[in-house]
This record gives sequence, C-alpha cells and structure tokens, in this order.
Amino acid sequence: MKRVLLTMPGQATLAESLCEQADLQTGLQAGQMELRRFPDGESYVRVLSDVKGADVAILCQLHHPDDKILPLLLLVSTLRDLGVRRIGLIAPYLAYMRQDKRFHEGEGISARYFARLLSQQVDWLLTVDPHLHRIHALSEVYSIPALALTAVQPIASWLRANIDKPVVIGPDGESEQWAARVAEATGCPYEVLTKERFGDRDVRVSLPHVDAWRTHTPVLVDDIISTGRTMLQAAAHLQAAGLCAPVCIGVHGIFAAGALAEMQAAGLRVVTSNSIPDVSNQIDLAPLLAQGLQHLL
Ligand code: R5P
Repeated sequence: MKRVLLTMPGQATLAESLCEQADLQTGLQAGQMELRRFPDGESYVRVLSDVKGADVAILCQLHHPDDKILPLLLLVSTLRDLGVRRIGLIAPYLAYMRQDKRFHEGEGISARYFARLLSQQVDWLLTVDPHLHRIHALSEVYSIPALALTAVQPIASWLRANIDKPVVIGPDGESEQWAARVAEATGCPYEVLTKERFGDRDVRVSLPHVDAWRTHTPVLVDDIISTGRTMLQAAAHLQAAGLCAPVCIGVHGIFAAGALAEMQAAGLRVVTSNSIPDVSNQIDLAPLLAQGLQHLL
C-alpha cells in the first residue's frame, strides 16, 4: 500500500521531522504538490506525485484556518478525482474548538459546523490536545475516526531535560487536565490557579497558596497561548507572591499580534510545541504524531 504525506505550504519543518519518524514506522513517503495563488487570489492546486490507490495524509497546521480551509478542500477534491484510496488530515492544532456553545443569542456554534465540514471531506483526523471543554470528546462532533493525542509526554521530557526543580502550575481550572498529567509524568508537584475572564483581553487570576514553592522553578502549562493574557496575569501573580518569573509552556502558540513580544518583555521564557510554527517551538511533536499515524494508516 502506497502511503503519501502531502504538506500544506509553510509547514516543511514539521513535515520533514514527521516523515523521518513515520517513514520508519508506517512507510509514509513525502509526496509533491504545487499549491499557490492565481494573481486574482484564487488557489491553484496540482498534485505532482502518483497518488492513485494511495493512502494520503495531509499535514495542515490549522492556525489562521480561514486562509487554509479552501485550499485544503480543493486539494481533497483533487485527490479524490485522482483516485486515492483514503485521505486523512493531520492537524496538530485543531482550529475552531473554542466556540463550542452559543454564548450570545444568534451566534453560531463554529466548533460543530467546522467538525461537520471536515468530517464530510476527509476519512480520518489526527490532532494533539484539541481544546475539549464543553465538548468532551471529538467523537461528539466529528463523525470520522478522530484521534486526539496529548503532548503531556513530550512536555514532560522537555521539562526533565531543561528545568531544575519545577513546580507545574495550571493558570486556570481548565488547564488542570494538562498540569496534573504533566506534573505526574515529570515527577514534580503541581498547583492550579483560578481565572476569571471579563473580556477578550481582560483576565484576572486569583492567588493560590504558593508559599511551598518558593525554591522551585514555576512552570505555567496551558493548551493554548493566544493573547497571552492568561499567562501574563498568572505570571504577575506568581511574581507578586515572591516566586521567580515562570517558564510558560503552551502546547499551541497561536500568539495574537504582539503577544509573544509582550510576554518576553515581561521576562517570561516562552516555550511551545511545533504544532504551530514559531520561534518559541522547542517541543517536537513528530514522534508522537508518527505513533498516532500507526493507528490510523
Ligand atoms: C482557555 O480556555 C484556554 O485553555 C487558554 O487558557 C486560553 O485560550 C488562553 O488565551 P489567552 O492567551 O488569550 O489568555
């Protein structure tokens, strides 16, 4: 069975690392395609590899998803026309998971609509730490096999190799699911703060009992860093309580404009996985994704 990896533009670093890992474990080979814009802004798609009868995995890092979805759908249709056997989507960061309920009258529940759209297009989905809050499992909204891996072990390995005497801190109640498991996998203690959000950029964090951790290195762990407000508020709180500037680990560094610079200016060390390409990437998800592919291919 021919197995081909096609990579959406701008994602070559993770693709190379993934191909190295996955080639050994699943025989996945990098395929070639051309995806560019016509002068009028419409997308041009051409698959250069022979994919007839193949299992094709498309790597698409889905931050800024609106720019990527139409080219992705055009690619999927092209592949179907070319007679592929199955198409899977590797989206290490799964977009549109946060609008998971109707918060205000008239709003759309984008998480459900996006899941329905992808489920109609591809045969399986592989992702890492999707933002599961009110939706408890991807199977509630995706009707295709959808495997959600977790970056807990890669984060724990990074912590063991890089941080002396860490205490993992979840910046809010939702992050406890990562903080607790990362701490257990690392073999260190953890603490969870409580957070209230009053607006997109107005987040307030409550004081935990931090006295026990003054000799530790605080490590904030969350699934997503977007505006950076959650991390900045939590860090300010920890520092006001006498702890040193924390290391901030986000599985997915979405980084709204200026967010990373603001965090760095506040003296924070920011570390993310390569689910989204960024200068803060230090945690490689390729080995984890390659393991996941073994189940899906
Ligand atoms: C919230 O539900 C998530 O787990 C993150 O805490 C949140 O997305 C972080 O956003 P920001 O960086 O904008 O505070």
